[in-house]
Amino acid sequence: MKTRKSLLTAVIGAALTFGVSAQAFAATTLKLSHNHTRDHAVHKAMDAMAKEVRETTDGEVRIRIYPDAQLGSQRESMELMQNGALQMVKTNAAELEAFAPAYSAFNMPYLFRDQTHFYATQEGEIGEEILESSRKSGFIGLTYYDAGARSFYTSKPINTPADLKGMKVRVQPSPSAIAMVEALGGSATPLAYGELYTALQQGVVDAAENNIPSYGMSRHSEVSKFFSLDEHTMVPDVLVISTNAFDGLSEEHQKAVKTAALNSMQLMKTLWAESEKEERAKAEEIGVKFVEVDKASFVTAVQPMYDDVQKNNPELFTLIERIQAVK
Ligand code: GCU
Repeated sequence: MKTRKSLLTAVIGAALTFGVSAQAFAATTLKLSHNHTRDHAVHKAMDAMAKEVRETTDGEVRIRIYPDAQLGSQRESMELMQNGALQMVKTNAAELEAFAPAYSAFNMPYLFRDQTHFYATQEGEIGEEILESSRKSGFIGLTYYDAGARSFYTSKPINTPADLKGMKVRVQPSPSAIAMVEALGGSATPLAYGELYTALQQGVVDAAENNIPSYGMSRHSEVSKFFSLDEHTMVPDVLVISTNAFDGLSEEHQKAVKTAALNSMQLMKTLWAESEKEERAKAEEIGVKFVEVDKASFVTAVQPMYDDVQKNNPELFTLIERIQAVK
C-alpha cells in the first residue's frame, strides 16, 4: 500500500512537472443515501463495500455514506439521484416498484419457498436481469441485500387475516404492498419509514409490517408489543447507482464497484442472521411476544393477487412463474 502511495506521489509529481493538471487524479466521490442507522447490518455491509472500493481503486473512487435518511426518505433520495445531487441509494424492492416495474415480483406474498430459493433468485440470472431493468430510468441496481421476511406487528396477536379486519396498516409506498393488505382485509396506509414511529404512537395507524431488525432498531417494538410471524414477503434491500455516475467510471473502476457490492451482499448474509437473532432477543427482553400464526389462511387470502396479475399483467406473471421455477 505504502509503495503504491509513493508511486502515486511520484506519478503526480511527474505529471505536474510535465504540465499535466493534477485534476486528472482527483478522486471520484459517490454519495450514498439510506434510511437506517449506523448500527444496522446493511450500513455495516455497505461500509465494508466502501472500504473495499477505496482500497481496490487506490483511493480513486470513494463512497461516502449518509445514513438515517439525512438526505431524505428513500423516495426523496431516488429523486435526488435522478437529478444528479447524489449517486447511490440503498432502498428496497417495494419502493423501487414505482421506478422499475420488474421489482414488483419481489413484493408478491409467499413467492419464495425459503431463504435458499430467495438467494438463488437474487444471485441468479433473474436477479441480475431485474437489477439491469431500470437502465432507461437512469439507474441500475448493483446488488441485493438480505432483509429477511416481513410480518405484521400491532398491539394484539394477528393469527389469521380476520384479525386485521378494520385495522389501519402502514405499508411502504408500493402498489403491491397496498394490494396485499387489502387482500388480507386491512386498510392500507402508505407512509415513509421515518414517519412510522409517531404514527404508531399516536394511533394514526394501528399496525405495520417489517422484518425483526427494522422493527427493533426503529423502536417500533416499544409501541407495538405483538410480532406475528406470518412472514408474508421477502423483500430485499437494493443498492442502486445512477447510470450517469456508473457509466462515468472507467471499466476497471466499474468492476471494482460491482465486485465490492457483490462481496458486501455475501457479508450481509452473516450480518443479517446475527442481527435477526440479536434484535429478537432484545425485543423479548422488553416484553414483545412473537406469535406463531396460521400461515395457510394468509396464503389463501392473497391468492387473488396472483389471479389479478395473471389477468392484467402477463409480463409480470411470466417473471413470477420464472421465479417460482428457480431451483
Ligand atoms: C426495511 C427496509 C427499508 C424500508 C423499510 C420500510 O427496513 O430495509 O429499506 O424503508 O423496511 O418499511 O419502509
